[in-house]
Amino acid sequence: MRGDWHTASAPGKFVILGEHSVVYGRPAITLAADLRMTVAVRRSAWNTMNGEKLDFRRQAHIRHLTRNLRHAIDMLTYSEIPVGSGMGSSAALSASMAMALASMEDREMSEEQIMREAYDAEFYAQGNGSPMDASSCVHGGGLTVNMPGSEGRRLWTVERGGRRWEFRDLEVPRMTFVIGNTGIRAPTGPQVAKVHRYMERNSFACEVIDDIADVTIEGGNALRRNDVEALGRLMTQDHKLLSILGVSCDPLNKLVNASLPYSYGAKLTGSGGGGCMVALTDRAEQVCEAIRSRGGTPYVVRTGGKGVSMEPSPPDVPGADR
Ligand code: MEV
Repeated sequence: MRGDWHTASAPGKFVILGEHSVVYGRPAITLAADLRMTVAVRRSAWNTMNGEKLDFRRQAHIRHLTRNLRHAIDMLTYSEIPVGSGMGSSAALSASMAMALASMEDREMSEEQIMREAYDAEFYAQGNGSPMDASSCVHGGGLTVNMPGSEGRRLWTVERGGRRWEFRDLEVPRMTFVIGNTGIRAPTGPQVAKVHRYMERNSFACEVIDDIADVTIEGGNALRRNDVEALGRLMTQDHKLLSILGVSCDPLNKLVNASLPYSYGAKLTGSGGGGCMVALTDRAEQVCEAIRSRGGTPYVVRTGGKGVSMEPSPPDVPGADR
């Protein structure tokens, strides 16, 4: 009954500028990281994940991704991406699982089709959000979203709920970024919903979203000029705007403040409420030390990880049968 394993992996991502405002169709800049999520699937008699029987109905992403299967599967997952941390672990799971399932079913899928399947799974599970995480985890490298003046190759356009997002390839900048993880898990959906409620109640919140969009466009110009100092300044400004929106928290602010003396700029990355911050620096060791001294976990990220791709063998998950 059991078939062969089909394994795929996808990178995590971090947002340089524009999270939250991108949900409303505003610009953003995002890079893939060199931390990956790996998913293997094979036909089976029962649904299992990492050796445990699994009720897929309780896992919204997986329920959506497996909706057309006529048989059960064994699934193995292994994540280098910290989960629920704003680094796209859930989009990377959806992207790599979509590719592994297509291989198991002997279906051809283009990069764009995998992105659409991954975004649908994310949207189905979360009920809100933009296609930015799915696009970044599928394409890898660097991306701009709705960025005026962007000269990168157009990848795809997604429309949903009256909003439209155009994705373009971004040449990955030669800059050093350090991620600091607070260790506090904070899923995206509730943070996006919180900002939405704030915007409904208060026109001031809508102005903050406009300000984030302006800062992001300026950041796109700074990137084109390779102007690290300006980009860093804009990242810090973005962090302040995100704090006004209510998506930062004390542990994130502590890591941002600790990194700033050794950085061009620093900000939370992803949906906030916990999770990770990112600093742009050429003093990575000092930033790592500063993050550690405030109880965070630092990663010096190599940017521009490759997009979703097939892997030769399933991950070695302790206790699970390969
Ligand atoms: C999450 O990485 C970024 C948000 O803008 C949500 C989204 O774009 O879906 C907060």
